[in-house]
Amino acid sequence: MPLASRHLLGLEGVSQEDITDILDTAISMREILERPIKKVPSLRGVTVLNLFYEPSTRTRISFELAEKRLSADTINFSASTSSVKKGETLKDTVRNIEAMKMDMVVVRHKSAGAPYFLTQCLESNIINAGDGAHEHPTQALLDMFTMRQKYGKLAGLRVLLVGDIKHSRVARSNIWGLKAMGASVAVCGPSTLLPYEAERFGVDVYTKLDEALEGVDVVNILRIQLERQQSGMFPSQREYTNLFGLNHHRLKRLNDNFTIMHPGPMNRGVEITTDIADGPNSLILEQVTNGQAVRMAILYLLSGKKDSDKVEEVDA
Ligand code: CP
Repeated sequence: MPLASRHLLGLEGVSQEDITDILDTAISMREILERPIKKVPSLRGVTVLNLFYEPSTRTRISFELAEKRLSADTINFSASTSSVKKGETLKDTVRNIEAMKMDMVVVRHKSAGAPYFLTQCLESNIINAGDGAHEHPTQALLDMFTMRQKYGKLAGLRVLLVGDIKHSRVARSNIWGLKAMGASVAVCGPSTLLPYEAERFGVDVYTKLDEALEGVDVVNILRIQLERQQSGMFPSQREYTNLFGLNHHRLKRLNDNFTIMHPGPMNRGVEITTDIADGPNSLILEQVTNGQAVRMAILYLLSGKKDSDKVEEVDA
């Protein structure tokens, strides 16, 4: 089944069918990663620009490897070593690079909406690799793939997101994606780090972690953005750890066969203790491996899709 859009800007409004298609395709891609030669020719002749205006370890390397495993040509752009430093705008930058014949752009930017903006000035397929506090759809898809790999399904799972929900693009994409797939979603954090009227996202909202953990299958711990402490969002790191840090005393409240996840980068000893992060129920590194397979699936499914595709599909 073709995806409804030729871009991946977020998971809000994406159908259960499209998410299932991506996750099912990622199973085949995951199998490629287990082969001695981890490379297939699917994207031969396709050029992908990795346009990163913000730091990244996992997402940038994962996309680059995913592109290489599919035999695409990859170009890596880093704002800090480009003519952005001389004042060149985002629009001029991408239009100049596209003039060198790009087909797809993977973009991370501090401004929410930057990936959408690129769809308005480029012909390429656009994939959002994290835009401000808006969405990080590939992270949520790899999180869902990892949950489905363990439990066999997402419908009926109870998933708790803990931390800075208000500023988290990972939380937002997980909420949209998990709800589309029929999971039950809860969020927990200090009230200063929860979105205004968070219930309107269709999630259960908690400000006490011990209550929130009851009956949960998957806890996805978000990175606490330590710069928030300076802006008065929480009084001290120590207090945050006492009230919202996951430690082994709290695990007994979770369902049997529970899972611990974290998108990274982790603040060990702040939002999560090392024994849990590296413990038997942690799938944190499995998330990273699966991320490559999910990104391969997205690149494969979006590659070559044009605006005219929808019309042709209807005509056929
Ligand atoms: N999870 C995530 O987006 O990590 P990076 O910032 O390292 O890409």
